[in-house]
Amino acid sequence: MSFKVIVIGSGKGSNAQALLRAEQSGKLGVAEIAAVFSDREDAPILELAKTYNKPAQSIPCNSQKARLAPEESLLLLKAIQIHSPDLVVLAGFMKILDAPFIDALRGRIINLHPSLLPSFPGIHSIEQAYNFPVKITGCTVHWVIPKLDAGPIIDQRSVAIEPTDSLSTLTEKVHAAEHALLPDVVRRISLKQITVPNE
Ligand code: GAR
Repeated sequence: MSFKVIVIGSGKGSNAQALLRAEQSGKLGVAEIAAVFSDREDAPILELAKTYNKPAQSIPCNSQKARLAPEESLLLLKAIQIHSPDLVVLAGFMKILDAPFIDALRGRIINLHPSLLPSFPGIHSIEQAYNFPVKITGCTVHWVIPKLDAGPIIDQRSVAIEPTDSLSTLTEKVHAAEHALLPDVVRRISLKQITVPNE
């Protein structure tokens, strides 16, 4: 039985790579990465997907806007739905999605966030934790609901902020935690070890 996963990201794609590596080495349960999407045609995540022989596609979007416009969001939804995904993973997707998009995928869409939510939602979360300063930060995977970074938390990994840490060493530590957390969550969802919470 296969479990089709779509990955959407805006940037480098190190988390997509963690997922692709996990799939390659048999550590993603029954999950199969069906395709990778981006809002940016020059996003390295798309080149990365191609090196793993995965379909990779960008959706034309206004790069200046934080939110996807309704027509952009519909375009992305239609492109994703062609693959009949069991799960959509937002791995570094930096645009805000609208409610119709999220409602169409409700219970099948998760987001990776670089802080221990509900602390430091939004952007520059690692920097916010570093500057606060808190002693412990980390990363979160949660179900996506229309309210930003607010859906039910699936799992988290903590990262200690040491006095010797710079923003750059902390960023590396949070990313390493993400690269372990995200494939593990996708594996467990594919194996039905994690289910959508009742609303
Ligand atoms: C990750 O740290 C992810 O948590 C963050 O973007 C980075 C993407 O890195 N996502 C957000 O901030 C979403 N609000 P990657 O492109 O190397 O996977």
